[in-house]
Amino acid sequence: MDFKLTPEQEMIRDMVRDFTEKNIKPVAALYDEEKQFPYENLKKMANLGLMGMNIPVEFGGSEVGVVAYSLAITEIAKGCASHAVTTSVTNMVAEVIYEFGQEEIKRKHVPKLCNGQYPAGSFAITEPHTGSDAGNIRTTAIRQKEAYVLNGSKTLITSGEASGVTVTWAITDRNAKKGKGISAFVIEKGTPGFIIGKAEEKMGHRASQTNELVFDQCTVPANCLLGKEGEGFKIAMMELDGGRIGIGSLALGVGFSAIDFAIEYVKEREAFGKPLSSFEAIQWMIADSYTELEAAQLLVLRAAYLKETHQPFTKEASMAKLFATETARDVTIRAVQMLGGYGYTRDYPVERYLRDIIGTTLYEGTSEVQRIVISREILKD
Ligand code: CAA
Repeated sequence: MDFKLTPEQEMIRDMVRDFTEKNIKPVAALYDEEKQFPYENLKKMANLGLMGMNIPVEFGGSEVGVVAYSLAITEIAKGCASHAVTTSVTNMVAEVIYEFGQEEIKRKHVPKLCNGQYPAGSFAITEPHTGSDAGNIRTTAIRQKEAYVLNGSKTLITSGEASGVTVTWAITDRNAKKGKGISAFVIEKGTPGFIIGKAEEKMGHRASQTNELVFDQCTVPANCLLGKEGEGFKIAMMELDGGRIGIGSLALGVGFSAIDFAIEYVKEREAFGKPLSSFEAIQWMIADSYTELEAAQLLVLRAAYLKETHQPFTKEASMAKLFATETARDVTIRAVQMLGGYGYTRDYPVERYLRDIIGTTLYEGTSEVQRIVISREILKD
């Protein structure tokens, strides 16, 4: 077993770390405050190859692999979780279109996602009445000659407004068993009947967009179908496995930033005549936080490695997402505690980290959904 990163993976991690220091950290607090979507930075990140990290060069991607992708998302999230979630979902959308799209559709959309011509991509499965129970969606797609007509609505869709392209799910066969009659479609921004709805006012990830989407007699050519009719649910599940590596990686970045900030603080701040860092209570918080985050990173990188080497990784991705997001949340709460009352004010970034980390235990399957996936996989074995 070799835990060493390749020189290329180290180079990508360092390059993204440098980019984050110079371009993301300086604007993160302001963008959070003003709910500003980071169009300019996302374009620069696309130019660095960060939007199609598992896409072949022929389609505009950088094809550097899933481990490098995980490291990159963690580095981006050290600066801003909103930049990271937008990047993670855009990569996922590029991958699902590349893997399941028809040739013409792949050639049309994947390069634009990778090169930043599209600011982002979105993954629209959740509906107002069903989030975790994704097999229970109600949006329909009726085949009419060489087209499908979609009706229904989606909610909580990341980058719903900025996306050049959206992948969505709809029922094509009402009579099929649950999960079997769902199909996946590619919808281009501006398609008549595709309406961008309300923008959500969120606790965290405020520089990312979260929208309702409405399909009102939205008609798309038949070649926008991903995979075959009825395969949509499986496609969603497969892509979410990969997406969960992205969200786990993101959570690590937030957790590391929170504890690193708190460590600098306790070295400076004095109480009872000595720096806080000289108290054992604080030292143990530091030791526990780093131990737990590094353990979480091993799980995340294992899942990334399995995906990269084309081995099964469903259970491992869910374990990684569950453990990394909950660990990073606990570490971030500890970081607030280390700052005392100041940690609760907006003058220090740990307050933003805490608002941001909460989202990671919800996105791409709540912690409870990850436990369902993990236990089913174990019982199956
Ligand atoms: N890979 C391949 N196939 C899979 C699979 C996987 N990981 N998981 C399930 N399937 C297949 C099953 O084998 C089964 O097929 P067969 O009937 O042929 O055997 C079929 O899919 C149905 O599977 P289940 O019976 O397990 O389905 P279920 O209805 O019990 O649901 C669930 C399982 C895990 C709870 C699923 O609904 C789920 O993951 N829900 C959470 C949805 C989610 O993550 N939403 C996030 C939205 S996207 C987002 O947040 C992005 C963003 O913007 C940040």
